[in-house]
Amino acid sequence: MYSMTELIKKLQKNRTLTKNEFIKLLRCEGADMELLRKTAEAERIGIYGKDVYIRGLIEFTNFCRQDCLYCGIRRSNKNCRRFRLTDGEILSCCDEGYRLGFRTFVLQGGEDPYFSDDKICALIEQIKHKYPDCALTLSIGEKPKQSYRRFFDSGADRFLLRHETADKAHYEMLHPSSQSYDNRMRCLRDLKEIGYQVGCGFMVGSPYQTDECLAEDLIFLSEFKPHMIGIGPFIHHSDTVFRDYPDGTLDMTLRLLSIIRVMMPSVLLPATTALATIDPKGREKGILAGANVVMPNLSPVGVRKDYSLYDNKVCTGEESAQCMNCLSRRIESIGYKIAVSRGDSLV
Ligand code: 5AD
Ligand code: FES
Repeated sequence: MYSMTELIKKLQKNRTLTKNEFIKLLRCEGADMELLRKTAEAERIGIYGKDVYIRGLIEFTNFCRQDCLYCGIRRSNKNCRRFRLTDGEILSCCDEGYRLGFRTFVLQGGEDPYFSDDKICALIEQIKHKYPDCALTLSIGEKPKQSYRRFFDSGADRFLLRHETADKAHYEMLHPSSQSYDNRMRCLRDLKEIGYQVGCGFMVGSPYQTDECLAEDLIFLSEFKPHMIGIGPFIHHSDTVFRDYPDGTLDMTLRLLSIIRVMMPSVLLPATTALATIDPKGREKGILAGANVVMPNLSPVGVRKDYSLYDNKVCTGEESAQCMNCLSRRIESIGYKIAVSRGDSLV
């Protein structure tokens, strides 16, 4: 059996480990955890220097036909105040974002049937026409391959769809029987085949998750080779089935960010809003652990609180410009800097 130090070296050399080795590494603490972090930071600086890429997140609808057990905007949450932005509102978010230095916009929403494929394509075309130097990312859930292809042909560059868990039995504990693991995986394969830069990911500390599940997530990532990986702690939402489950922890999220950075040195890895929500210095700690992306919100302040996937989400009261100021100060305070560029995947 390897020591923790040897395991970290082995991960750096082979860019993967066995399931049992991952499980062991997920339990590292103290000086071992600091060595893991330092190894990740060195890999990240070797490729990206101290640049942090920014993505302007536009949460454009919180209507959703799905019913994920963990999520505050699930269909059966009757307490959720639903909203949709108009095309004009979405474009003003982009205008403001562009002024603030954003060169990637992320359209994120629930699976809202109101936004037909035609409507989404029209939106993509308008945004890409107005901002040809910007990348456009979609995060709008599970669709047929034909729809994904139409969005791509209209100009979308990237797609985020977290796999949520690579363990099928665990997937079924987090979702109603109408949602399937196989369809989620089908979507991810289709997106890659079409040519998107693809992001997958999962929550850390979701109900029923074990270290075995996390090891399977890591093995899935090393095989699927996404361009982007979104991970953040699970945080309970008081109007969901999981209201009484404990939140994911800062330390486990940081360990995972570092392991992922060492395993996939060039991957685009955000320090998420969920991480900032469970710790006042969460984003900074995430960057120091190996993350190289932040995704501040560009949505109008009037609707931000309504896009509530979990309780106590940060940055819901601040204007976009205020968040940018706050964020650049935070990033500079740890010796990093915001890059004004599309920040495309290097692979
Ligand atoms: N806590 C943390 N993350 C959540 N997400 C959904 N609900 C929660 C929650 N309660 C994540 C899911 C989803 C992404 C958009 O947000 O992983 O894919
Ligand atoms: Fe939004 Fe600090 S980043 S208030």
